[in-house]
Amino acid sequence: MNVSGIPVSARAPVPGWKRGWPWQEGPAGRFAPFKAVVFTLLLLPALWLLWRTSQHDLGPRPLTELILQTGNWGIRLLLVSLFVTPLRQILRRGRLALIRRMIGVASALYLLAHFILYTANHAFDLNKIVTEIAKANYLIIGLSALVGLSLLLATSTDGMIRRLGSRRWQRLHWLVFPAAILGAWHFFLQVKADISQPLLMIGFLTWLLGYRLWRYLKPQGAVLPLWALVLLGLAATAVTVAGEAAYFGWKIGTAVVPRVLEANLNIEMGLRPGIWVLLAATGVTVAAGLATMKARRS
Ligand code: HEM
Repeated sequence: MNVSGIPVSARAPVPGWKRGWPWQEGPAGRFAPFKAVVFTLLLLPALWLLWRTSQHDLGPRPLTELILQTGNWGIRLLLVSLFVTPLRQILRRGRLALIRRMIGVASALYLLAHFILYTANHAFDLNKIVTEIAKANYLIIGLSALVGLSLLLATSTDGMIRRLGSRRWQRLHWLVFPAAILGAWHFFLQVKADISQPLLMIGFLTWLLGYRLWRYLKPQGAVLPLWALVLLGLAATAVTVAGEAAYFGWKIGTAVVPRVLEANLNIEMGLRPGIWVLLAATGVTVAAGLATMKARRS
């Protein structure tokens, strides 16, 4: 077993096996409905954006809308790809390993499109692009994240895994975490009004990093005990709530902090990002409990 949780044997290329299409599986290239469904889902946002472009339905600034949409889908899929391994381990569903790379690659492609659209928005004028990026911290941060992800994309083929060797490849692919943190930071910095989405990303990333840290410190392959999942959920919730309070405290003034905390306790005021993180973490913990009970029974 390796850091990303995919058995090394699943990564080691089978001699003579051509990888084939994303919806195929195994040496014979059998049609895999599960992979086909995930592949279709990954394509849907791109098809939807193409459809809206063809219908001139992107508002007064179509390129800006496309930049925002591809950025959003890219970072969402990046987080989904990071959740695959914990869910595979917690739910004991080995087949989830089949879709991790596909989701990661889709995320990187959406983000590359995000960058290309940004350059298109500047009429591909290299001087202007370099000057603007150098002036804006959030663009430098976004670009650093994208460089990291592009490196991972370029080394995601079976050939590269073989060439680098499993251990070096795994170490390199830890880069996905700094890249995701930088991506979330870029998102946070460029948001104009509603910071709910970046806060959610920060909460989920805290959970994911805590999970990986636990696995790193306890590499015997044990699934996290339920009490550790409960603590992890609470920690991720606390970081999200603290992030929200700190943001509004800094923007508006410290007097607003108690009101932010109150809003997180009062669901009648709407569900704050911290509550969503708590709900998601609780869902995973309950699913882990059920999976453990099922495994003990069988
Ligand atoms: C991994 C890297 C990146 C991620 C995860 C990412 C993600 C995002 C997200 C989620 C948004 C906000 C969408 C919204 O507010 O609805 C955004 C906006 C934006 N991104 Fe990125 N981005 C990345 C890299 C880049 C790069 C390299 C550039 C250009 C150099 C860039 C330029 C922009 C711009 C200009 C906006 C704001 C558009 C506007 O408000 O008018 N991003 N990005």
